[in-house]
Amino acid sequence: MGEDVFVRCKFFICLYLSCIAALIVADPALAFHSDVYQTRVPQDQLDAAIASKNPYKNTAERIKRGRQIYFGKGLCVTCHSKDGTGVRLPGHSPRDFTDARWQRLRSDGELMWVLKNGSPGTGMPKRVGTVISEEDGWSVIHFIRSFISVN
Ligand code: HEC
Repeated sequence: MGEDVFVRCKFFICLYLSCIAALIVADPALAFHSDVYQTRVPQDQLDAAIASKNPYKNTAERIKRGRQIYFGKGLCVTCHSKDGTGVRLPGHSPRDFTDARWQRLRSDGELMWVLKNGSPGTGMPKRVGTVISEEDGWSVIHFIRSFISVN
């Protein structure tokens, strides 16, 4: 009798743990970040982010300024590496900036959203408004575009 209760308890504990595991796997906040091609901007802010255009022209001078931010006060290079492919980080690795498909899918406005808000749930920190200005942010976005020529 005592053993029977014990077996039944084990069954319910297993069921309970499986439910928790299923909830974690199904959590949209976690699933959201598993696909690198999916936008990091929440749906209710996406239209505004896409409509926000880079106010600065893509000139050699602008890219040079972006490069200085990337290697300097933005500290981008510590995670995104010199060649833009990124260092390995636990959890979510940094984006591979040489990935042409990712470059094509993302607008400058979506990248600016990430620079202002970080990528919640990952190591990508807020940069614009903390260590760099908005103009620096737009410049560094031009520099990120230069890792690959998007045709
Ligand atoms: C502490 C590490 C770290 C630093 C510093 C950092 N990043 Fe990131 N970055 C990440 C990680 C991790 C991701 C991947 C986040 C994800 O998967 O959503 C990322 C993603 C991004 C993305 C891709 C967002 C998207 O929509 O796909 C951009 C753009 C970016 N970082 C730009 C920058 C710039 C520019 C700087 C410097 C001003 C910078 N990052 C500094 C770790 C970092």
